[in-house]
Amino acid sequence: MEQQFISNLSTTSFSIEEGSVNAKSPSNIALVKYWGKKKNQIPTNSSISYTLTNSYTETELKFKKKQSDNFEVEVYFEGEKKDSFSPKIITFFERIIDYVPFLKAYKFTVHTHNSFPHSSGIASSASGMSALALCLVQIENNLGANLSEEESLKKASFLARLGSGSACRSVFKGLIEWGENNFIKGSSDLYGTKYPDTEIHEVFKTFHDTILLIHEGQKSVSSTVGHNLMNNHPYAERRFVEANENLEKLIPILKNGDVKAFGELIEHEALTLHAMMMMSNPAFILMKPNTVAALEKLWEYRNETDRQLYFTLDAGANIHLLYPASDALEIEIFIEKELKAFCQNGNYIKDKVNF
Ligand code: DP6
Repeated sequence: MEQQFISNLSTTSFSIEEGSVNAKSPSNIALVKYWGKKKNQIPTNSSISYTLTNSYTETELKFKKKQSDNFEVEVYFEGEKKDSFSPKIITFFERIIDYVPFLKAYKFTVHTHNSFPHSSGIASSASGMSALALCLVQIENNLGANLSEEESLKKASFLARLGSGSACRSVFKGLIEWGENNFIKGSSDLYGTKYPDTEIHEVFKTFHDTILLIHEGQKSVSSTVGHNLMNNHPYAERRFVEANENLEKLIPILKNGDVKAFGELIEHEALTLHAMMMMSNPAFILMKPNTVAALEKLWEYRNETDRQLYFTLDAGANIHLLYPASDALEIEIFIEKELKAFCQNGNYIKDKVNF
């Protein structure tokens, strides 16, 4: 058990009969990817992500005193009751009960809403679990825990991680690092930490993220199955080492504003993630023909124009286009003219990093 996150509340302090709290959490996009985990949601390598601005989850958590000694949760997603969402939250509650002692004392009603369409393939587990964790820490404070702002965010990130690994990086704005290593001070496997703004060149704070929705709908590999593919994977150990090497290489790049080196590194990370899946047993190819076609177009455009347009991928077919604000005007004309055609129903989402 992690002593530092055990609540200082005693059961007699659950004096509030009922109440309601709210939280909003952004989605995040990893530059160095988390892919592979050990017991208790401990990552096998360090990762770093940008939190986004327009893609977020908003959650209201209502709580009401009850007598029974079990978990009671009712979930409403976009205004509609979703019984299918409750087991995931109960599993989350089971994992965090040692740190959140009031979970059985109240009946909870969750009202949650995403700013992005459910069908978009943007993972809502990161922003969703982060928002829920922030709500729980607020309740803990209302019941008298009195955590400072910094302690509250750290605890929310710790709890969010137990819901979904990448969710621990959605608790803060900016660039967030997760995973213990010997080159980032304060780095931890237990929670995300904000990468210092002073160590980031201004150009990286202006980045746009336009998400090409190549294939809307469910991802074809769930994160649980996906991370498991790294157990007994012949290249896993090398990959875990390389991810940490890549993060270490990123540090001077972030500081000196070398957009080209940044772009090369994040594209390599994205393609490595997909390559690992192609070499897994069973194997997965998550790119669609239009993913490949759009990437080829992007590379062709970059060679011809020298514009600073780069990409990263999640565990799915959609493409995140990353580019600095200084090139946005021209690049967005190119997206509209050339890349939109590869998107299902011509759909893409315009987002920005959140600083
Ligand atoms: C490819 O955080 O969704 O997006 O811990 O099982 O919930 P669980 O996995 P999840 O995995 C995200 C993987 C990724 C890379 C990343 O965000 O770093």
